[in-house]
Amino acid sequence: MERILNLAIRAPTVAPGMACADVYDLFSRDPDLLALAVVEDGRPIGLVNRHELILRLADRFGRPLFEKKPVERLMDRDPLIVDGEADIDDLGKRILTERPSALATGFIIVHRGRYHGIGSALLLLQAQMRRMQRHAEALEEAKLEAEAANRSKSMFLANMSHELRTPLNAIIGFTDFIRSETLGPIRPAEYAEYVEDVNTSGKHLLNVINAILDMSKIEANRLELNEEEIDPADLCHSACRMLRETAKRRGVEILLEVPDDLPDLLADPQFVRQILLNLLSNALKFSETGQTVRLAAELKADGGLVFTVSDEGIGIAEEDIERVLEPFGQAENSLTRSREGTGLGLPLCQALTEAHGGRLELESELGKGTTVRIHMPASRTLDTDHSTIRYLA
Ligand SMILES: Nc1ncnc2c1ncn2[C@@H]1O[C@H](COP(=O)(O)OP(=O)(O)OP(=O)(O)O)[C@@H](O)[C@H]1O
Ligand SMILES: [Mg+2]
Repeated sequence: MERILNLAIRAPTVAPGMACADVYDLFSRDPDLLALAVVEDGRPIGLVNRHELILRLADRFGRPLFEKKPVERLMDRDPLIVDGEADIDDLGKRILTERPSALATGFIIVHRGRYHGIGSALLLLQAQMRRMQRHAEALEEAKLEAEAANRSKSMFLANMSHELRTPLNAIIGFTDFIRSETLGPIRPAEYAEYVEDVNTSGKHLLNVINAILDMSKIEANRLELNEEEIDPADLCHSACRMLRETAKRRGVEILLEVPDDLPDLLADPQFVRQILLNLLSNALKFSETGQTVRLAAELKADGGLVFTVSDEGIGIAEEDIERVLEPFGQAENSLTRSREGTGLGLPLCQALTEAHGGRLELESELGKGTTVRIHMPASRTLDTDHSTIRYLA
């Protein structure tokens, strides 16, 4: 906060009885003097503005009329008087709402009720400029700090995930090997179950680490697309195949609605597969036994390709939709809480889609189901000659 006191010009004061001609002389001697306070016993009782006084006396009959008269005859008896202890910001607002004319005439600043100095619009403006300058500098500093913090976060995550992934891969590899019983049967047989658990937990952990790493790369703008011409139908089929076991376990059917004659897509196949897998596994995870999950791909009239994953599951409340698209955001729902997850799937899908120039659209109704559409732009669909399709009827 900056106090109004700092604004004050310590101008001399005049007594109410001083002759107008003498006040005129004071103004003539100091061209920077905007106004003078008329003070009695240390307390301001009026304000004389330079231009108003000069105009009065320059008038044809003004001089003979007022020259000898006391200045209190011409002063403003109700000037804006402000307390010097107050904040400059409040003053700006107060003048604009209460007395905009004070910007032109000047105002009086008092300290503990006694005259302290004259304030002007110019000084107020300068003070506000200073304040804005300070804000801008603080913001710039905060931005640099945040960028540095973000860089070290990304470095930390990259190193950390490397450190974690190496032993995890060993754990997964060895348990896979033990599971296969290549060197002989597992004894006692109960150990087989533990090995299975270690293996699935290891794979789950690896997925989480990979998702965190991808998210941090996206946030650091370090994501690179390895673009290839891919067949969207192939991709849909393979994503469904990968989740067939999960679907069976949950008693949910996956319905695939993908025409064979879709044009190729210029995209990063790993990322598009990851998008479909994340969306499908959400749809499976939040569906009930006996329900159906649908995966569709279609060509739009504008030439863009749309992947749609929909389910008839528990749905997301309207007030939660924004949150579930944030990293680590999950719906505040006891039903979802009971299902595992880190809350990175959807934000990753959105970021990966946007990295392709596309858009993720989420529609959901509590208890009715959820539909997520991935819109890929027309510039990424290729016709059979591998040239870009612009308009398709
Ligand atoms: N198909 C869906 N039906 C109902 N709720 C969903 C659906 N998809 C996502 N959600 C809600 O959005 C939240 C965030 O989804 P997201 O995929 O980002 O994370 P997650 O599935 O909880 O964990 P992760 O994908 O990282 O394993 C979920 O926790 C759930 O509350
Ligand atoms: Mg998920």
